[in-house]
This record gives sequence, structure tokens and C-alpha cells, in this order.
Amino acid sequence: MKERVIQKFGELYGDGAILFASPGRINLIGEHTDYNGGFVFPGAVDKGIVAAIRLNGTDKVRAYALDLGEEAEFGLAEEDKPAQSWARYIFGVCREVQKRGGRIGGFDTVFAGDVPLGAGMSSSAALESTYAFALNDLCGCGIDKFELARIGQSTEHNYCGVNCGIMDQFASVFGKKGCLMRLDCRSMEFAYFPFDPKGYKLVLLDSRVKHELVGSPYNDRRASCERVSQVLGQEFLRGATMEQLDAVKDRISEEDYKRARYVIGEERRVLDVCEALERGDYETVGKRMYETHWGMSKDYEVSCEELDFLAEVAEECGVTGSRIMGGGFGGCTINLVREELYDRFIATAKERFAAKYGHEPEVYDVVISDGSRRLE
Ligand code: GLA
Repeated sequence: MKERVIQKFGELYGDGAILFASPGRINLIGEHTDYNGGFVFPGAVDKGIVAAIRLNGTDKVRAYALDLGEEAEFGLAEEDKPAQSWARYIFGVCREVQKRGGRIGGFDTVFAGDVPLGAGMSSSAALESTYAFALNDLCGCGIDKFELARIGQSTEHNYCGVNCGIMDQFASVFGKKGCLMRLDCRSMEFAYFPFDPKGYKLVLLDSRVKHELVGSPYNDRRASCERVSQVLGQEFLRGATMEQLDAVKDRISEEDYKRARYVIGEERRVLDVCEALERGDYETVGKRMYETHWGMSKDYEVSCEELDFLAEVAEECGVTGSRIMGGGFGGCTINLVREELYDRFIATAKERFAAKYGHEPEVYDVVISDGSRRLE
């Protein structure tokens, strides 16, 4: 990918580009908890975005999306917002850097990616983090890493229509090889957890049902949580108990009740998983993963038939844990599988999924990798 990006940059804009990269992410557990002030447990993966960039001494940006074969050109003022949705991510990052006082100039850039789009692995966060990190580095803006993550998040909010939490951009910027990260999204404290479950593998099965969070029910889920928090008189759902929720049941809609029930349960599950990991108790980790899946499916209603099917097949095969990963509405399941079961599980899942839906799920082995960086 690096070579292709550099070669295309040379063809279009000449020499002297510097390469930057940022990864997509997985999340072991803690879904839809980030914007509720709760915990998440993500890690960066070995798939992401690579971009070649060179400042061009003008106030214009020329960007080329290698995988799409499309070019966009835009200025750095608010009214210059480009039409192509992919270019809006880059534009948004530029604007958000500027809003934080970063003095950036125009640049030429080519980028490509190998995070599957719409698979729930945060291809858009990888794109945002790449440019936030690169502009900060090239223009010496002196922005810290948390703020780089927030630049990506604000880009989603202000230029892409998704009221996302901070998990994806945080994971992309802060990722560390071999480590998951537990982030408290209220205090923003985090810790690296070396993750090397002896005898188990983490694997993603991509249903290839494309999810699209823009203008989607994602924002509605967040709004439900905010309504319930308000009724509870809290800033976030984080910290609320089931007893508190039950006490306000008649003041909220049935739907909002179910959404909040899921979030409150998920907070407990993340903490359980952390404790279980410290004991090396992967059976408990796996059980919580299944509970998350069915909570997301029945209460939060962000699953789909194909993902429910994949979780069921996993359970029938004796897989330790399986659940829908990311925002939902399509994408992947994340599976914690004992090594000796791995081949049989993958073969069975492919065969049964193909028999039912006409195509095999895509299989991605998870390799936990580093976050945003400048490439030599
Ligand atoms: C998407 C959002 C994240 C998070 C997850 C669900 O990936 O971008 O902020 O809310 O969904 O956990």
C-alpha cells in the first residue's frame, strides 16, 4: 500500500511526500458506552489508512483517493466544503485543527486504505486520525494526542453527521502493539492491557452487510440515552443502576427504557471482563461477549439478521465468545475462539452463512498494532 501511494503521489504531484498511517480498531467489549461516559476496551489493528502528504505553499488542498480513483480540491475556509463525502473527512480535520489555533497551509495528498469500509472497524476514524496526526506533525501545531482524537470526533459531528463518541479516534491515535486499552470515557483515564490470550484467537467475521452510520439510527440511540440521563438528573447514563432506571420507568418510553437497560448492563460487563482478564478467565470474557451481543440485538436493536445468525453459529460451534462489534447495523462479529476449534468454526460459519445468504463472510484475523505514526 505504501508503494502504491508514493507512486501515485509522484505521478500526480511530484517528489518529497512524507508518509503517515493510522489504524482501524477492534473493541473487545463496551459498545455504545463511550458517549454515555462509560468504559470501552478497544485496540488498534494492522489495517488502516496510509497517506502521502506534502505541504504545497498555497492555501489549497489537493487530495486523491487512490482506492476510488477520485480527486478533490478545496480551500481551507468554511465555505469550501467539498462535495465528495470522503473529502469531507479531510476538510473537516483541517477545519477542526484550525479551530484549535493550528496554523496549517495547503497540501497535496494521496491516500489508500485496507480497513474494510462499513465493517464496523472504523475506517473513517483511521482517515481522520491520519490527517490530524500528519498536519499536527508537519505544521508543528503542538496539539496533544487526546485533542487529535477529539479533532476526528468533531469532524464526525460537524462535517459528517454522526454524533459518535470518542472510542474509535482514541483507539486509532493511541493504539499500541499487542495491547488493548481500557478507556474511561468520563475521566479520559486509560490503561494499556497486554492482550495475549494463550490458547485463544480473536477473529472477525464480516457479514458484508454494509453499515452506514451517517444520518442513521446511531444518532437516535444516543438521543434516547440522553433523554433518560436527563430524567435521571445525571450528565451520563454511566453510574446509573437498574433500580434507578426502574424508578423512572413510567416517565420514559418503552423504547428508551430498553436502550438504557442495555447501556447499564454493558457497563457492568466491561468491568467484569477486566476482572476476568486479570485472572486469565476467558470463559467469563466470552460469556459477557454473548450477553453484549443479545443486548445489542434485543434491547439496543442495532444488530441485523445476518449478525444474529453468525453469533448463533458461533455458540453452536462452542466458540467462547461472539458478538456484533462497533456501532452496529451490519459489519462484523468479533469472536474469541479456542485455537483447536478455530478451523472447524471458520469452515462451519462460512458454509452455513453462504448456504443462507448466498455469500461467505469475510474472515479477518486480529493483529493488535500501533496507532497513528509517521512512516520512515
Ligand atoms: C461507533 C462510534 C463509536 C462508538 C461505537 C459503538 O463506532 O463511532 O463512538 O459509539 O460506534 O460502541
